[in-house]
Amino acid sequence: MRVMQSALNRATTGVLSVIQRFLVLPNQITFSGAGSTQQLCDHIHRLGHKKVLLITDKILVDLGLANRVVEGMAGHGGEVVIYDGVLPDPTVAMVNDGLALVKQHGCDAIVAMGGGSSIDTAKGVASAATNGGIEKLIGILKVKQDALPLFAIPTTSGTGSEVSIAAVISDPETHQKGVMADPKIVPQAVALDAELLTGMPPSVTASTGMDALSHAIETYIGRWSNNQVKSLSGTAIKLIFDYLPKACENGSDMQARESLALASYYAGLSLNDGGVGNVHAFAHQIGGQYKIPHGVAISAVMPQVLQLSLKQAGAKLAELADLIGVASAGDSEQVKAEEFIAALRNLQQEIGMPMTFSQIQTQDIRGLVKEALKEAVLYPVPYFMSYREGEQLIRQLQET
Ligand SMILES: [Fe+2]
Repeated sequence: MRVMQSALNRATTGVLSVIQRFLVLPNQITFSGAGSTQQLCDHIHRLGHKKVLLITDKILVDLGLANRVVEGMAGHGGEVVIYDGVLPDPTVAMVNDGLALVKQHGCDAIVAMGGGSSIDTAKGVASAATNGGIEKLIGILKVKQDALPLFAIPTTSGTGSEVSIAAVISDPETHQKGVMADPKIVPQAVALDAELLTGMPPSVTASTGMDALSHAIETYIGRWSNNQVKSLSGTAIKLIFDYLPKACENGSDMQARESLALASYYAGLSLNDGGVGNVHAFAHQIGGQYKIPHGVAISAVMPQVLQLSLKQAGAKLAELADLIGVASAGDSEQVKAEEFIAALRNLQQEIGMPMTFSQIQTQDIRGLVKEALKEAVLYPVPYFMSYREGEQLIRQLQET
C-alpha cells in the first residue's frame, strides 16, 4: 500500500511541479509597518479606483478597524461599500453576497480586511466578478479573466492568504471544501499593518503563529524546496522563534507584531513555490472531524511529523537548528535535527499550545489516517508515511 501511494505521490507531484514552473506570479506591492493601511489606501487611489467593496467581518467593524479603510479612501474622495458577513470557513453563499454588492454599487476594486476567511472570500468575489459564477472557478487554474483588482490587509499573522495563490471556499450543501488555486487571485498589494494586530488575543496569536511556522517548515523540508524557498521560509522560522513568545506575552509589542506579520507573509510566499506536506495532510483531517482550529491541530501534529521525517529531512532540520541558534558546533546532524524538534516543543509549551486532544476517538483513527495519506499524495512530502506510522501519529495525539 505504502509503496503504491508513495509512487503515486512522486508521479502526482512531478506533474504538479511542471505546471507550477509555468505559473507567472504577480509582482505584489507590500506596505509594511504601523499605519500602512493608509499607505495602501493612497496606493488604491493612485491606481484610480473610486468605489471599493471592503470584505470583512462584524468584529472588525465593531472594533472600528474597518473604518480605517473608509476614512483612508474618503480622504481621497473615494467611496467604500462594506460587506461584513464573513464567518470562519467561507462559503459559496458569502461569495455570492459580496458579488451582489459589487454589481449593485458598481465597485471597481475589492479590499479584504481580516484573517484568511475574509481574504479567501474576497478572492472568490474578485474572480467571480469578472468570470461568472464562483462554482466553476473552484479547482486549479480555472480563472480565465483577470480578477477585479484585489488588495488585502491581514489582521492575523498565520494563513499567508494575503500572498498565496489559493483560497478555500466551502459548499455547505455538498459538504465539500473547494480549493481555488490560480495566480490571478493573488492580491495586487497588501498592508501588513501592526496597529491592527495588537488586539489579537494570545491564544489566536499562538495558533496562527504555529500555522505560519508550519508553512515555513514544510516548505523548507519539502521536495520542492530550493534556495529561494529556503531563504523565505528560513527567515520566517527565525522571526517566529524570536518573536512569537513576545507577542503572546505582550500583544502591544509592536516590534513583535511587525516581525510576525512579516514572518507570516514570507511563509505564505514560500508556500507558492514550496507547497505544504504531511503536517497539513493530518491536521486537516483532525481539524475537520473535531472542529479543532487549524493552527491548533497543526501545532500538535508538527513535532510528530518531523520526528518521523528525521531520516529524509534530518540535514535540513539540522540547518534550522543552526539558524535558530539551538545547536552546538560539534553536534552531529542527527543531534542537531533532534535539537530543532526539542526547541519546537519548548516553544509550543511556552505559548500554551495543546499537544493532545480528548475528542479523538479510537474508532475514528483508521478513517483519519486513510484520508490523511490520500491528501498527502498531492504534496511534495519529504517522506511518505506508512499506514502504521500514521496510526501511531494520531494515537500519540489522543488524550490518555
Ligand atoms: Fe496552514
